[in-house]
Order: sequence, then C-alpha cells, then structure tokens
Amino acid sequence: MKMNLVATCLLGLEGLVADELRQIGAENVNAENGRVVFSGDKTLLVRANISSRFAERILILLGRFNAITFEELFESVKRLPFADFISSRDTFPVTGYSINSQLHSIPDCQKIIKKAAVESLKKDYKISWFEETGPVHKIKFSIMKDEVLIMLDTSGPGLHKRSYRPESNDAPIRETLAAAMCSLSRLKSYHTLYDPFCGSGTILIEGAMLANNIAPGIIRNFDVDRWGYIPESIWISERERANDLIKKDTDFIAFGSDIDSHAVELTKINAKRINVSSFLRLKIADIKDFEPTTEKGTLITNPPYGERMLDLREAEKIYRVMGEKFVSQRGWSYGIISPDEEFEKCFGRKADKRRKLYNGMIKCQYYMYFK
Ligand SMILES: C[S@@+](CC[C@H](N)C(=O)[O-])C[C@H]1O[C@@H](n2cnc3c(N)ncnc32)[C@H](O)[C@@H]1O
Repeated sequence: MKMNLVATCLLGLEGLVADELRQIGAENVNAENGRVVFSGDKTLLVRANISSRFAERILILLGRFNAITFEELFESVKRLPFADFISSRDTFPVTGYSINSQLHSIPDCQKIIKKAAVESLKKDYKISWFEETGPVHKIKFSIMKDEVLIMLDTSGPGLHKRSYRPESNDAPIRETLAAAMCSLSRLKSYHTLYDPFCGSGTILIEGAMLANNIAPGIIRNFDVDRWGYIPESIWISERERANDLIKKDTDFIAFGSDIDSHAVELTKINAKRINVSSFLRLKIADIKDFEPTTEKGTLITNPPYGERMLDLREAEKIYRVMGEKFVSQRGWSYGIISPDEEFEKCFGRKADKRRKLYNGMIKCQYYMYFK
C-alpha cells in the first residue's frame, strides 16, 4: 500500500533529495522548502532510509491541513490514523516547530497535538491510559504559514549520522552536506578526489561512498526497525540490494591531508569503520606544500572558517595560498565551501559556478571551478 512520505533536508539540498528519491522509485515527488514530499510503499520507506545521501530524515505524513485556532488543530489531529502505526503500549513524544503562523506557541501546539493523538488512540484501543513503555514513535509537526503537517519519524537519529563518525575534530562538516558537495562536483568512480583540509575525513569518506555507490545507511539502524511495522523480509532484501549495488573493483582513490596529525588519525579511524580505508591515501601536510601526484583531480574541500577556527585574516591568507596551489588546468576541478564573502577575491579567480548551501546555521557558498 502506498503512503505519503516526507524527506527533510538542509536548505539548498531539496533538488538533490528529489532526484535521488526519483532514482530509487519514489512517486509524486515534490520539492518544498527544506523537505521533499513523495509517495511509496514499505519497501521504498526502508530503501529511502538506507540509501538517501542528502536527506536528514524520512517521515510518514499522517495529515496535512490548515489551522489557525487550537480547536481546529485538535479536531484535525484527532481524526488522523495514529493506531495504524502506534500500538497501545508504544511511546509517542511530540516535537515540532512553527514559522510565520497564528499558532506560534510550540509548547501549546505540542500539548494540543499530544492530547488529540491520545484521544484518537483511546477511540481505537478502547482504553483510557497509555503506559508508553514500548518502542518510540516520534510525532513531528511542522506549521508554516498556518499549514500543519503531522508526521511520524521513521529514521530516529538524523540520517547524516551514518555511524562512522563518533569522533570528529572541532569543525566537522555535516555528512549530508559533504555528500552534496561531491555530487555537485560530479564526482565519479574513475575520478581522483583530493581534500587538503580533511579534518575528520568527512568529504573523503562521503566521496568514496558516493563514487563506489555504498549506501550511507548500510551500517546503522532506524527507529522504524523497532516498530514491528516492516516485515523482516523487506529489511533483509533491501540490505541485500544495497550490498549488491556497491561497485566492485573501481580505481577510485582519495588523497587527504591536514596540518593536524590528530585530524589525519581521526580520518583513518572513521574510514575504517565504514570500510573505505582502501581508497584513502593520507598524510600530514600544510596547504603551502600541496603538490598533487596525479594528472587529473577533483578537489573538494572545507577550509578553515575565520569565525570558528582561525581569525578571518589567517583564513584569508590560506585562501590566497589555495589560489596559487589550485592551478587552473585541464582535467582539474575545484569545489570549495566558504561563508566568506571575500573568498573569490582572496582566491584570485571568480568561480565558474556558485551554489548557496548551509553548513549548520552558517550561510555558505559552494564555489566551483571546472577548468
Ligand atoms: C573546517 S576544518 C575541516 C573539517 C572537515 N571537513 C571535517 O569534516 O572534519 C578545516 C581543517 O583545516 C585544517 N588546517 C588549518 N590550517 C591548515 C593548513 N595551513 N594546511 C592544512 N590544513 C590546515 C585544520 O586542522 C582543520 O582540520
């Protein structure tokens, strides 16, 4: 049976999420602000959780309606089919947000939605008290311009948590964003990737996973695992499918370096966890000594930001060195993410293409040089 589903994502990644969902068989795919709405069955729900590289969460959309009073909110939520997913013992906390809407008090919306969900479940289970000792079914709400979406979170911890990076350095880039940069730079399995500011290795690892078609959710679990809602046979066949799709015998190589020896060590540990160590060549190096060893390369990097790691002048000095080292030549492309408006001036060249992306709350540009 088809369900309405939602994939949430970082702002700027909606198009990439919509494309990857279409590729795995999603229907009625519609990109909105910070999310993509689509439809699919239980198999697709599992597939999206295991294989989405760019989404933050996959949720079941229980209802979508307008509400400007708590009465309207309560009555509409009460009619939703919670009992199709939540058993009489399950735990169902409610969280969410409201933007530009008449119903703006989050704690009040939370209370009303919880009360309405309890009323709906009481009717179905004919009981008046819910112990809430069973598996967690997180109810999420989004209210934007008075339009309410009520959803059930199937992912649990955000999908950017692939399970390979419990350890990270001071300013790691989010895994979903690193994967998006690799995709925007059109990284392929026959390319050679470089990241000379590798930190904990996120770009190198996401690049290796993308190039070799390794599903990002391959070694993690999801909340929906514990609901008993998805037959075990679907989990088994979808994990097998993900394993079968991994490219074998590619000649993909990723060169990573960092001035900090601890960062290089972290990259090694993280790469091992997700089984991509064989693709990586790592060393400790200052950017001023950057010397690529191959004829062609796809360089994707997240250099230090002034406000977080060094002062701005230090960071801009590094951008100047990068401009000298990242020589414009055939066979090379460079992709650099930075929040610094002066980046192109310091780097010394205007990008061939730019894309606005958010690294957490920081608005950045992804500067792409293709020739
Ligand atoms: C923003 S962090 C990169 C984070 C990385 N993308 C990750 O996910 O962990 C910038 C990195 O640049 C490194 N770095 C700072 N100055 C450097 C230099 N002169 N040469 C090479 N690496 C440098 C820092 O040690 C830090 O790991």
